[in-house]
Amino acid sequence: MAILVCGGAGYIGSHMVKLLLEKGKEVIVIDNLQSGHRIAVDLGAKFFLGDLRDEKFMDIIFSENKIDGIIDFAADSLVGESMINPIKYYENNMMGTTSLLKFMVKYKVKNIVFSSTAATYGEPKNIPILETELTIPTNPYGETKLGVEKLLKWCELAYGIKYTALRYFNVAGAYPTGEIGEDHNPETHLIPIVLQVALGKRENVGIYGTDYNTPDGTCVRDYVHVMDLVDAHMKALERLENGGNSEIYNLGNGEGFSVKDVIESSREVTGHPIPAILSERRAGDPSILVASSEKAKKELGWEPQYTTVKSIIETAWKWHKSNPEGYKK
Ligand code: UFG
Repeated sequence: MAILVCGGAGYIGSHMVKLLLEKGKEVIVIDNLQSGHRIAVDLGAKFFLGDLRDEKFMDIIFSENKIDGIIDFAADSLVGESMINPIKYYENNMMGTTSLLKFMVKYKVKNIVFSSTAATYGEPKNIPILETELTIPTNPYGETKLGVEKLLKWCELAYGIKYTALRYFNVAGAYPTGEIGEDHNPETHLIPIVLQVALGKRENVGIYGTDYNTPDGTCVRDYVHVMDLVDAHMKALERLENGGNSEIYNLGNGEGFSVKDVIESSREVTGHPIPAILSERRAGDPSILVASSEKAKKELGWEPQYTTVKSIIETAWKWHKSNPEGYKK
């Protein structure tokens, strides 16, 4: 009985695969390598190169393997890009998971942990954000993830599929030994960009907007370590396996850090001055996203280990310092 990890060669997916293998699970990975790295799963998982929307490919995988549960990370996940190319997001994110669900129904696989996002909330009225907050996304990325959450609800009703949707806040950090980590091309996320400045790969970091209604005028985010995040997936899957009901959980640390805070902490961690320049706002960015993760703590028994943004940056720095060009090509 195996766990199928869709998007298992990506940043979060590869950390999930490593943890599952460490727990002695049999792991199957599907990834189209659009943004993932094959090397990140040379860890002992069975790897299939292909796309969730390719029905022939999916039928082979489901017919030849006994799949017990699914963790679905396969998606495009850039807020800014989704504003410029919404069709890409609807095509990949909505149609990919729709196809996956079709095969779950056909092959009677009952449990799925789905990678959702804080971007489902849009501009929340209440901080910290509870799972009951209104969901009015301000970008197509959040809209497609919310669309899949709704589809999951209907699939439970129609086919008895049990799901856990995990709404991530800002995921960062790397495997503590520095073996695997974040490698996007192009990189758009704040922490890796800031660390690229510290490595001398960029001259400076642009701060996207300094006129937000926040204490220092820059956007505030809740940073959560990738190892804490995958631990929550493990717990969510176990809960479903033990007969748990379908639920949605926020995953964050419950503390907000501004863009300026992140740059300052990165200066402390790296000892580099990290020059910053003030830039225009990036379209689609909400001003403040900070989670209440009390529900996940109570119901999943989840307790994040990396609770400060500095401790998260430290592990990211370890990875980037030893792999300045990312994974070997
Ligand atoms: N930022 C900068 N300069 C940069 C890059 C980012 O100022 O060079 C700012 C952004 O405007 C934002 C903050 O830093 O205010 C964080 O930006 P990221 O791109 O690192 O992350 P996002 O908040 O845009 O998005 C991330 C994930 C999404 C998820 C979201 C939920 O990429 O998938 O967190 O909060 F939906």
